[in-house]
Amino acid sequence: MAGTGKQWWRDAVIYQVYPRSWADSDGDGIGDLPGITARLPHLAELGVDAVWLSPFYTSPQHDAGYDVADYRDVDPLFGHLDAFDALTARAHELGLRVVVDVVPNHSSDEHVWFRAALASAPGSLERARYVFRDGSGPDGDEPPNNWTSMFGGPAWTRVTEADGTPGQWFLHLFDSTQPDFDWTNPEVRDELEGVLRFWLDRGVDGFRIDVAHGLVKAEGLPDTDLSLDPNVDATSLSPMWDQPGVHEIYRSWRLLADSYAVEGDDADRILCAEAWVLPGESLAKYVRPDELHQSFNFEYLMTPWRADDQRSTITRSLAQAEAVGAPQTWVLSNHDVVRHATRLGYPQHAGLQRIEGIGADDPQPDAALGLRRARAATAVMLALPGSAYLFQGEELGLPEATRLPDEVRQDPTFARTGGSSKGRDGCRVPVPWEAAAPSFGFGPGEASWLPQPAEYGALAVDCQRDDPTSTLTLYRDLLRLRRELRLGRGRLTWLDGHPADVLAFTISSDEAAVTVLANLGVEPLPLPDGATVVAASGEREHGAPVDTDETVWLRA
Ligand code: NOJ
Repeated sequence: MAGTGKQWWRDAVIYQVYPRSWADSDGDGIGDLPGITARLPHLAELGVDAVWLSPFYTSPQHDAGYDVADYRDVDPLFGHLDAFDALTARAHELGLRVVVDVVPNHSSDEHVWFRAALASAPGSLERARYVFRDGSGPDGDEPPNNWTSMFGGPAWTRVTEADGTPGQWFLHLFDSTQPDFDWTNPEVRDELEGVLRFWLDRGVDGFRIDVAHGLVKAEGLPDTDLSLDPNVDATSLSPMWDQPGVHEIYRSWRLLADSYAVEGDDADRILCAEAWVLPGESLAKYVRPDELHQSFNFEYLMTPWRADDQRSTITRSLAQAEAVGAPQTWVLSNHDVVRHATRLGYPQHAGLQRIEGIGADDPQPDAALGLRRARAATAVMLALPGSAYLFQGEELGLPEATRLPDEVRQDPTFARTGGSSKGRDGCRVPVPWEAAAPSFGFGPGEASWLPQPAEYGALAVDCQRDDPTSTLTLYRDLLRLRRELRLGRGRLTWLDGHPADVLAFTISSDEAAVTVLANLGVEPLPLPDGATVVAASGEREHGAPVDTDETVWLRA
């Protein structure tokens, strides 16, 4: 909670709330800000430091709010500005900081700027805020280049000009309702800095920056090499990602954020990049001392549950962050990937993990195995030095909804790929609070914008709160110890003398040293002599060996 020491973000645990799916106060089946405010005590009891809210701004919701029509207002679906102020005040009262999303790469096509752009002529100042280009081909009826949208299909859509003729094309790296801004235009820079100020003035403690690596495109918008593999190749080889010009934007944002940290270090307002950038050395550039505070460590999220891979990702991640003096971040789940309790219920192959949505006809995970490994993986993550991000519901061990009927799917990825990608709805299903209540207590009635799987009932908060073996209790215990022992500020040392399929390390902080053993092998691992188990991801008898897919924290 607030007051954990200087530069609070260096070891903060930040809990992501996806506003549509956390708590619904008015029974329309969509979560909202008053619902979140009412449930904030859950986060204080859990023991996190901050809440990050995915977008709640005015939006036609074609990408669940990542298509912003008005950056300075709350969508009526979620409430209004007063409800936001009430949420922030309550969070601060509970000792929780508030981080909000900013979406600077693109707006909604319903943004007043884009409407003006459509109503204006090619070459106008209104069009210059977005990326409009003439088409290629003899009649301009081919897109300007070969870029494809992250959601499938071309990254360009052609407009009809005011006189009814087929006109220019505009760029959208995501849905066709999400036109990309042109960041070479100073007006765009000023506008987004104004947006940051607006929310900072309302008291937010930081921002998660959507698509932070996409704002600047290579000059001339050259064709991309379609053979590049985004999971292997340097992202900067693509003309739309990780271009050097983004860093200058973040230097300016950092100065702005720092200008609000008037009460000293512990009042820092933070900036965290959502940047899917490879290699890690390039990602580390985003968190140089005069740029952002943090960036998500997606390589960690995608690392299979295999000891060698875990060891090398953790080692590399720590070294990369340390080289620029930043804390590393750790994350296992979010609103764009398959929940880790499900991901880990599949065989773990070498190479980066499957994060794409799952459909009823796809192979289904081993749910019990997935949960067991998820608890073990979380117990590794929450020991690591740096800052950790949690996604709503993971503290309940929620699995992905893997059998959603296609007709309820809302993620634009599903439609834009003709259903070949199931999309991200499976991790966005509303959270269960009370097993016996309609919509498992998500709202006052039955309504829920995505159907909740029946198995969510037994995982509801009220079933887990007082159960010493529940996943919720495990998270609370881990978070309490992490805070008491200041593990987030500690240093990691790998321990020799253990089997290769065991992760064995010590975290030493000023307060204490903790040894972590995670058994990813098949043989039970005897506890070291004289060690006391202070936390364990599995159910265990006193003194029992560490089981397969179990993590223990030990003190001498
Ligand atoms: C990343 C967000 O996390 C995702 O949900 C969204 O669809 C894209 N950026 C586009 O804004």
